[in-house]
Amino acid sequence: MAKKTLNVGLIGYGMIGKVHAYATAVLPWYAPELDVVGKIKAVATSRMETASAAREQIGCAEAYDDYRKIIDDPEIDVVDVCVPNAEHFKILTDAIKAKKHIYCEKPIVAGVSEASALAKEMRYSGYAQANIVAFHLRGFAALRRAKELIDGGNLGQLVQYRVAYRHSSMLDPTTPWRWKNSASGGVILDLASHLFDLVLWLVGAPATLIAQSTIRAPFRPTRPLRPGELISDVPSQRVQSEDSILVMTRGLSDPPRLISRRPCPKIMEYRDFTGTDPDSMPITVDDPKKSAAIVGIVEATKLAAGAEDELTLEIDGTRGSLRFSLMDPHYLEFFDATLPSGTYGGESGWTKIACGARYPSPESGFPSPKSTTGWLRAHIAALVSFYRGIADGRVYGPDFKQAIEVQNVLNAVQTSAITNRYAWLKES
Ligand SMILES: NC(=O)c1ccc[n+]([C@@H]2O[C@H](COP(=O)([O-])OP(=O)(O)OC[C@H]3O[C@@H](n4cnc5c(N)ncnc54)[C@H](O)[C@@H]3O)[C@@H](O)[C@H]2O)c1
Repeated sequence: MAKKTLNVGLIGYGMIGKVHAYATAVLPWYAPELDVVGKIKAVATSRMETASAAREQIGCAEAYDDYRKIIDDPEIDVVDVCVPNAEHFKILTDAIKAKKHIYCEKPIVAGVSEASALAKEMRYSGYAQANIVAFHLRGFAALRRAKELIDGGNLGQLVQYRVAYRHSSMLDPTTPWRWKNSASGGVILDLASHLFDLVLWLVGAPATLIAQSTIRAPFRPTRPLRPGELISDVPSQRVQSEDSILVMTRGLSDPPRLISRRPCPKIMEYRDFTGTDPDSMPITVDDPKKSAAIVGIVEATKLAAGAEDELTLEIDGTRGSLRFSLMDPHYLEFFDATLPSGTYGGESGWTKIACGARYPSPESGFPSPKSTTGWLRAHIAALVSFYRGIADGRVYGPDFKQAIEVQNVLNAVQTSAITNRYAWLKES
């Protein structure tokens, strides 16, 4: 069947807009079985100069400094929203009215009043097009595997969780918050939005929570300092955005799902005894009457010295535990508490599940199921070395001379393997 290609209007071409443009372009390789794909027809930013540069980089037809031109274009099927949080609401409202499919960056809007107004708009206009928020962490194979294990009852009743998202980007008090210095910025919307999306997806929304936040520097410059400039040389503004947030949660606001699974005699857990067959008795992830027993800690900070993009997740249940780190995303760690311990440890211990790029159709394991996240990045760097060499008339990578040296060593290895003798490499 021929693929259907939808026209995409990309709004915003900053850090994440470029990522969306790249993802749209490479989709045919990652998901060759998809029946519908997108192609960017137009891009809009806040200035014509940046919009034109974006059009050139993407290779699309149109560039605008007014997003409404994208909304008003009847040939645009999909609106992709990559603008600062405070700009989301009006663009989403217009796109909903125009009945476009919408792919939107997180958080969906900048506040709860905007969220309820958006929900109303969707109801009143009978909006029924595709709509997704790019909580992209759910895209990691390891976190999808975590969801499978939890939903399959492998962790039993959930007991506690601890999730953290740690950056170091605001540790320097001269770093400005840019557009994030407002109620629509800060780590709650920027980082904790990802964490709570994962908590709601994997565990469920908490029944109650208590939070503490900090603002390290009450004033920050409005722009980055130039070399030699002091903070007093640059206009400053009062900081409204929190640098860190610590949240303790308790309970679940919705009853947990029922899961059918063989009971484990080793572990005490709540069961619904209405069933007759003891082997297929339903157990719950948690007793609805006891859901207050689940506690969690959610931490987000931009003040963690040395932290790059360190999201960690630990979930403990009566039957086992899970651990995930975004700095090591190839793996999900799973401890199955039902396996017997014994002399020298028996069978008990952590399993490091190699999730890698093992996606089911219509996604694929491109570039290969075992490829580590970021493997493709090194190929891009290799290609850049090649083109940079053409441009500069220099050699930036392993050229043929170096590759032939490698080949000579390989030949020595082969010879040694065949002859079972030392192989001597000629001195050059
Ligand atoms: N999922 C993630 O991992 C992730 C990462 C970074 C940012 N984000 C989200 O993406 C969004 C954008 O963040 P960013 O870091 O790319 O911002 P940015 O400042 O780098 O870029 C913002 C872009 O939006 C454009 N813009 C601003 N107002 C506009 C308007 N009214 N109409 C048209 N264009 C407008 C700017 O010209 C610029 O091109 C935010 O919602 C942010 O939370 C998500």
